Amino acid sequence: MADKPKPTTTDAGIPVSSDEFSLTVGPDGPILLHDHYLMEQMANFNREMIPDRQPHAKGSGAFGHFEVTSDVSAYTKAAVFQPGTKTEVLARFSTVAGESGSPDTWRDVRGFALKFYTTEGNYDMVGNNTPVFFIRDPMKFQDFIHSQKRRADNGLRDNDMQWDFWTLCPESAHQVTILMSDRGIPKSYRHMNGYSSHTYMWINAQGERFWVKYHFKTDQGIDFLTQEEGDRIAGTDADYHRRDLAEAINRGEYPSWTLKVQIMPFDEAATYRFNPFDLTKVWPHGDYPLHEVGRLQLTRNPSDFHTEIEQAAFEPNNMVPGIGPSPDRMLLARLVSYSDAHRARLGVNYKHIPVNRPKSPVHSYAKGGAMRMINVSDPVYKPNSKGGPKADPQRYPEQAVWSADGEFMRTAYTLRKDDDDFGQAGTLVREVMDDAQRDRLVANVIGHLKGGVREPVLQRALDYWHNIDKHIGDRIAKGLRNT
Ligand code: NDP
Ligand code: HEM
Repeated sequence: MADKPKPTTTDAGIPVSSDEFSLTVGPDGPILLHDHYLMEQMANFNREMIPDRQPHAKGSGAFGHFEVTSDVSAYTKAAVFQPGTKTEVLARFSTVAGESGSPDTWRDVRGFALKFYTTEGNYDMVGNNTPVFFIRDPMKFQDFIHSQKRRADNGLRDNDMQWDFWTLCPESAHQVTILMSDRGIPKSYRHMNGYSSHTYMWINAQGERFWVKYHFKTDQGIDFLTQEEGDRIAGTDADYHRRDLAEAINRGEYPSWTLKVQIMPFDEAATYRFNPFDLTKVWPHGDYPLHEVGRLQLTRNPSDFHTEIEQAAFEPNNMVPGIGPSPDRMLLARLVSYSDAHRARLGVNYKHIPVNRPKSPVHSYAKGGAMRMINVSDPVYKPNSKGGPKADPQRYPEQAVWSADGEFMRTAYTLRKDDDDFGQAGTLVREVMDDAQRDRLVANVIGHLKGGVREPVLQRALDYWHNIDKHIGDRIAKGLRNT
């Protein structure tokens, strides 16, 4: 016989008399205001929704672990990357421009966010499924996102607005080429790679510094949906990728990714043929090959999507000893933006939400604030002679540093020999894609441009593709004329 259900209670744990009926004056009379249980349910309901992330609102997540399989201790002392270490991880994958109910199969970049619960604090790697980005200066980020979302007047998305922005920002060409290629609609979150995109710093136990880029290569193999498949699924199952991830994990088909890194010696950055911190460029594998680090595997679905995934707060500023930022100005802006977003969306004590709480001890001097969950103890100030926590610069010196000098100014990065906006996009089209991929790229661009792009933006878009690759540009122009 099934166990007797537990008695329903209010949120204060008080047993209630009915799951069905409000407290009324007689069977046909009005509801009584002191039916606290009814009032509590209505009030809770009115407050269930929290603001969407702006951007990356629609996403899916799961828990698992990261296990180090190779020895990279010559490059980083980070505890999470020491040989044999196994660390619990939260992953969240997302689309960028859509709202929380939007279809998973719209053409878009995908977010690839990881939170490693390491022995030296939380390490967040907040990347995408593309190795580059649309812009290289954070001043344009807000405008970029506005141009990909909805118009102010009618609340509609607008391809003309997207191409207007892209063609006025030629540094977007590499990322737009990837977006319009097969990678723009992955078959599932399991069938895409994740990239740090940015360059980070690694520091080893001797204090030596290296520049690194992360590549999480899918062990399921890269796979994609065609535009037609994506459109059809968008109309029949908006949660296609969310469902796929949850069901695969429920079946015991645990998706995994192999982490590989490219490593650049610290001093080479100054003389490399293009700016290695420019987020619109990759480091060619021929120059900087991939080194294996370990394996990420997802094995557990959330049990409460809101609490564990919607309230998850990833922040690129969460870097642990042995890992630091690079001079990439996009990254430096992100180190400020995310924690601000979390304070706005979740409240100042967002790190007390269990999914954001480190598994290692916290000894900070923070106190107060709404929804604080962890008791504070004296002393509440530093320095103190009362036995409070004390920074240990011998054990944890400030090592993620580099030198810079110059007047304050607002200007582009200094151009180097091979710095240009179209070269790597052209290489991708000509040397990496095969004929079938190029055919789909051309068809995807034509379809997108025909979705409302008008003059003068249309002519600029054709010039943009000519700059990426003359032949592809001609095919797009011809295709537009003939359809
Ligand atoms: P490689 O031939 O060594 O690498 C080509 C890379 O392109 C592979 O990593 C492959 O990923 C990836 N790729 C294949 N199709 C696409 C696509 N439609 N969109 C994005 N990436 C794709 O060449 P190079 O390192 O010299 O780079 C050549 C070009 O490849 C670059 O200009 C860049 O556009 C692209 N690329 C380079 C990367 C790098 O870090 N060097 C990373 C990703 C792309 P996979 O292994 O999954 O098939
Ligand atoms: C989400 C800002 C560039 C990856 C977000 C959010 C903000 C933001 C405010 C919402 C955070 C939240 O509410 O939880 C910025 C700014 C950028 C930038 C200011 C550039 C200056 C990038 C780049 C990448 C990236 C280059 C990838 C390499 C992500 C991901 C998420 C996200 C994956 C979703 C995280 C999650 O799953 O919760 N970004 N972003 N962003 N961003 Fe960025």
